[in-house]
Amino acid sequence: MIEFVNVDLDRGRRLVLEGVNWRVRAGEHWAIVGANGSGKTSLLQVATGYLWPTRGHVSVLGQAFGQVDLRVLRRAIGWVSASLGPLLRTNQPALSIALSGAFASTGLFDRPSPPQVLQAEELLQRVGCRELAQAPFATLSLGEQQRVLIARALMAQPKLLILDEACAGLDLPGREDLLDVLEGLGRDDGPSMVLVTHHIEEISPVFTHVLALRGGRVLASGPKEHVLTSAILSRTFGLGIEVERQFGRYWPRVSAREN
Ligand SMILES: Nc1ncnc2c1ncn2[C@@H]1O[C@H](COP(=O)(O)OP(=O)(O)O)[C@@H](O)[C@H]1O
Ligand SMILES: [Mg+2]
Repeated sequence: MIEFVNVDLDRGRRLVLEGVNWRVRAGEHWAIVGANGSGKTSLLQVATGYLWPTRGHVSVLGQAFGQVDLRVLRRAIGWVSASLGPLLRTNQPALSIALSGAFASTGLFDRPSPPQVLQAEELLQRVGCRELAQAPFATLSLGEQQRVLIARALMAQPKLLILDEACAGLDLPGREDLLDVLEGLGRDDGPSMVLVTHHIEEISPVFTHVLALRGGRVLASGPKEHVLTSAILSRTFGLGIEVERQFGRYWPRVSAREN
């Protein structure tokens, strides 16, 4: 699905990614963890062709960059991010926002077909927002907005769904509702998912693999039980962290501060 070979990315001041090797296979769902500024968003922007690697090779969905029409490729990748909200025409009803995903636009300008409307309604149902279809997007809670954005991303039937800090700012029930939606997508043979977070406890059971970044370098990557250890997380965040597994999830506690 995604392959990075020795990828460097220079964004002016310094390398924000350095020597990154990463491989996502079909059927895997990945979480990317790392402190603020560790390069998580940059990594996703390289994976989706919005940033070009300074060195190394990237291929996504079997297509090597340099030989592929990025506009076509991006249509096969759904993107959900808290930073999307402000770009949207938020006075439009949730149904229109979901429908806009079929046109890769931020609001509904085209006339959707009846099957598209039906599909959007089904997707709103799937993310638990069916009854909010006619509510203006801006009036929804942040959690509801994020779930509508997932429905929007799914409209294009992506093979890859990228969630950049999708749980940021959500309260506990809002976060758990969103994680339930992701669990459902995993059960239903949905797209491969890549979730970026610095909250370890958001890595729900559907996620099979974890990549840990620090300062643009990969500290560890692989099956999540190998990466979500106290030793690796302590190095990732530069803090003493004890992690405990409970209810199929991982819960960190800060045990010591690094000086
Ligand atoms: N537009 C930009 N131009 C130059 N440097 C940037 C830009 N955006 C981010 N960076 C730098 O890239 C590094 C990684 O940022 P980012 O990928 O956003 O990290 P994360 O998502 O993990 O918080 C940071 O040091 C940041 O200062
Ligand atoms: Mg980021």
